[in-house]
Amino acid sequence: MDFYRGKKVYITGGSSGIGLAAAKSVAQWGGSVYISARGEERLAAALEEVKSAAIGSDQRFGMVAHDVSDPAACAAAAEQVVAGMGGVDVIIANAGVAHPSRILETPVEVFEKMMRINYFGTVHTTRAFLPHLYAQKRGHIGIVSSMLGFMGIYGYTAYAASKFAQVGFADALRQELIDYNVKLTILYPPDTDTPQLVEENKIKPPETKAISGEVKTLSPEEVAGCLLKGIAKGKLHVVPGAMGSFTRFMNRHAPWMVRMIIDGELKKFRKKHPDTRP
Ligand SMILES: NC(=O)c1ccc[n+]([C@@H]2O[C@H](COP(=O)([O-])OP(=O)(O)OC[C@H]3O[C@@H](n4cnc5c(N)ncnc54)[C@H](OP(=O)(O)O)[C@@H]3O)[C@@H](O)[C@H]2O)c1
Repeated sequence: MDFYRGKKVYITGGSSGIGLAAAKSVAQWGGSVYISARGEERLAAALEEVKSAAIGSDQRFGMVAHDVSDPAACAAAAEQVVAGMGGVDVIIANAGVAHPSRILETPVEVFEKMMRINYFGTVHTTRAFLPHLYAQKRGHIGIVSSMLGFMGIYGYTAYAASKFAQVGFADALRQELIDYNVKLTILYPPDTDTPQLVEENKIKPPETKAISGEVKTLSPEEVAGCLLKGIAKGKLHVVPGAMGSFTRFMNRHAPWMVRMIIDGELKKFRKKHPDTRP
């Protein structure tokens, strides 16, 4: 994609899954990339993968190991990224964690952790880079939410709340950005074949599996491609995959029908497994 040639891109959660796939694509398309995550070893290995996808000698690459839930660390990361690449054009707040479980089986610490990383991580990352984007009067912010950022399903009270919060934040921010010529894209991925999904599947309540089982899993490359294309085209909302787009359309125009379908799946599950009825 020509848009990314010479662009300077920063991606949180760039050591794995969707973030890593996005970083490699930007490198392949001639852009510079800095990635961040907490785990230094995995981040360094990811950086090598990103570097090996580069096509030119003028591209710059680097990493900043830090926790996005720490605002001071995000501010320091922003300084390092801007100095390392000589500026920044696109920032992608992608770092996130998930923990599906029924509400009373979810410790309150998990609710707090989801908000701290998924929501506040997005806030801190955005606030750290905004002074740079405002000063240059251009740039683009990508925010990775989830399909659970526009609809909730069984077992995702903690995660969906944090993903809805990102969307509310982004929706209000969009208008503030107009004066500074800074654009915004929100990504709503469906189930994507990443280490996060593998971990989720280990603990998902069976009801959640029954309800979300019909949604086709996408590859991180497909999802990252949709995000990067959406940013290049200046799209505000990006829902990867035909099923994802259809679900969002239905949820906007006939939410009762979406509820009827997912509640129907729950009823079917209870009928098949009567022993699970609470
Ligand atoms: N996979 C899906 O099905 C799916 C669906 C919808 C939305 N999403 C969203 O897509 C985004 C990427 O998810 P993924 O599936 O690609 O997950 P992943 O493969 O587990 O990657 C998550 C990345 O975020 C980093 N990270 C996690 N917590 C962090 C923290 N506190 N500070 C800094 N970095 C942190 C991880 O590295 P460290 O652990 O080393 O920090 C890793 O690099 C997330 O926001 C997720 O909620 C995923």
